[in-house]
Amino acid sequence: MEKVRIAIIGVGNIGNLHAGYLSNNEIKGAELVAFCDINPDKLVVAKRKYGENYKFYDSVQQVLADEAIDAVIISTPHYDHPVIAMAALKAGKHVLSEKPAGVYTKKVRELIEESKKYPELTFALMYNQRMNPTYRKAKELVEAGEIGELRRTNWIITNWYRSQSYYNSGGWRATWAGEGGGVLLNQDPHQLDLWQWICGMPKRVMGFAYFGKLRDVEVETDVTAYVEYANGATGVFVTTTTETPGTNRFEIVGSKGKIVIEDNQLKFWQTRVDEAEWNATYEGGFGEPEVWEIKVPTTFDSASGHSKVVQNFVNNILTGEELKSPGVEGINGLMISNAIHLSAWQERWVDLPIDEDLFFEELQKRIATSKLKTVEEKVLDTENTY
Ligand SMILES: NC(=O)c1ccc[n+]([C@@H]2O[C@H](COP(=O)([O-])OP(=O)(O)OC[C@H]3O[C@@H](n4cnc5c(N)ncnc54)[C@H](O)[C@@H]3O)[C@@H](O)[C@H]2O)c1
Repeated sequence: MEKVRIAIIGVGNIGNLHAGYLSNNEIKGAELVAFCDINPDKLVVAKRKYGENYKFYDSVQQVLADEAIDAVIISTPHYDHPVIAMAALKAGKHVLSEKPAGVYTKKVRELIEESKKYPELTFALMYNQRMNPTYRKAKELVEAGEIGELRRTNWIITNWYRSQSYYNSGGWRATWAGEGGGVLLNQDPHQLDLWQWICGMPKRVMGFAYFGKLRDVEVETDVTAYVEYANGATGVFVTTTTETPGTNRFEIVGSKGKIVIEDNQLKFWQTRVDEAEWNATYEGGFGEPEVWEIKVPTTFDSASGHSKVVQNFVNNILTGEELKSPGVEGINGLMISNAIHLSAWQERWVDLPIDEDLFFEELQKRIATSKLKTVEEKVLDTENTY
């Protein structure tokens, strides 16, 4: 295969972002060949924007039946991600799915099992923030033991401000039936993925969530979660879409150092001696280990992650380059998300891995009373929003 022929399924906000750089031939070895959307208006707009030289399909089945398509980028609402991904793999297509991997881990587990049947096909997820050199550097520091043993993680991510008009821009948005969750499912999959990618999975979770707080929606708009890791470290994750000015501060503390990512900068401090060792021998009463602030060379780039994920996906298909955001890893952040929901619904600690059947049942109860909104759908300008 010389070029990977790609179809975009779902030509809404993010589908258009992917179409932009693909139609400009910015991805080496890739050729955008088709658009697919169940809403005919979206195809009319796409035709106007990108020209007539593409195929325009109004159903996924048409895409999957087209032998001149090698790969799909799934940019539909979340519930469909694993459903379309499984159908695409069965039809022999490489799959790059938008985040989250799905709404509930039970379904994503099914997808992962299915994907194992097709080792010749690439299955990746759009975790574009994994491409940000600053988060990659944080992972490198933690994995190299530069902060010692993990002790505490804190992420305050409250700068994804979303207005009521945003929530009203799509009928599926912020409903249990259409979206399956709020800020945890739409905005935070990136942070939940990075959190576990850098710090590892917690072993239990206590979540507090407020549903429809300050917005007329069914799902959570405000969440605080407390987690514990197997080694006794603790973590807190705070998020809302209703706060302005918001904060994005990720703090990782270990026995030998601390990393803070805030205001698009990574700061790193290291103690000359591990705190545990220092504490075992120090006899001076007040005092603390000597700390050095160390300048770590890295640039914060949150803009080009999407095209980098697509380039990596295409390279993996063509040359076997290692996948930076493999599909099988999509279950981890979602597991934390599902655990927070379950904990908040049942007001109790939830151990990981969660009881996936129980989560599914609890979600069904909410879907049963969910109301899809009738709204005029809009394609929003997404520049600089993620
Ligand atoms: N990676 C990122 O930075 C990022 C940013 C925004 C959105 N997203 C994800 O992308 C997905 C879509 O979000 P959006 O904001 O673009 O939504 P959107 O509503 O603007 O677009 C979704 C499109 O999918 C179409 N669609 C729905 N079901 C379909 C189906 N079965 N077949 C074909 N088309 C179908 C809809 O008609 C719509 O045009 C969400 O899962 C979201 O989490 C990711």
